[in-house]
Amino acid sequence: MTQEEKKSLITRWTLAIVFMGLFWGLIWVITGGRYHSNVSGIHWFLDMHDQSFVKSQREDTTTLADVKVSLLKGADQNEVFGGPGSSMRVPPEGTVPRGYDPYPYSQAEIDQAGAALKNPLPLTAAVLERGQKEYEVYCSVCHGHLGEGDGPVVPRMTAPPSLITGAAKDWQDGKIFHMITMGRGNMLPYAAQIRPADRWAIVHYVRVLQKKGASN
Ligand code: HEC
Repeated sequence: MTQEEKKSLITRWTLAIVFMGLFWGLIWVITGGRYHSNVSGIHWFLDMHDQSFVKSQREDTTTLADVKVSLLKGADQNEVFGGPGSSMRVPPEGTVPRGYDPYPYSQAEIDQAGAALKNPLPLTAAVLERGQKEYEVYCSVCHGHLGEGDGPVVPRMTAPPSLITGAAKDWQDGKIFHMITMGRGNMLPYAAQIRPADRWAIVHYVRVLQKKGASN
């Protein structure tokens, strides 16, 4: 190997090492010096990392002061989401949703409900049709299509009472409404599933079933 060849070999190796150094240095910079980590060191593209998210149906309790702190701390330490008012808010105390009528009777106060509540719906064909539809959906599985307490759950479940010959025959409308709203024993409350007006339509329909049952 001549002196010339030796020199060129050294130059090539030097260049190669410098090049590798630069290459891995660049990788190191791009990845932020982290390897096998969920947390990247340097944030090149902030929009994905700094997205403002909050838990669904939750209030974002972040204050403006938190936002400032988080901007200074950097994205990894980010416990801050969208900032105040960016998500659901806790309703002020004592308020109710629009269109919601608070029900004033506890489950045991069925007699009070029976005495005080009157069916606000007129007895029309449309109301009865609605009542029938809702009754078929929600009540007939247990109380039967004609209200005789012989729905398809029998005999797998303790037989539900007949609405035709049982106690409900002599109940005021308000008591039946209360029963649907609050439930009792094996009959769960249907306040969440059936809107108040539909409950009253069911009461009308139950009355029709009772008249039918009595004339049979
Ligand atoms: C899961 C079955 C089931 C469904 C569905 C159901 N009930 Fe009942 N219902 C019962 C049972 C069981 C009782 C007896 C409860 C008790 O006092 O232990 C009852 C009791 C009643 C009573 C009181 C009758 C009495 O003699 O004491 C009325 C009125 C009534 N239900 C109406 C309805 C109406 C209207 C619906 C539809 C909105 C309905 N129920 C849906 C099972 C059911």
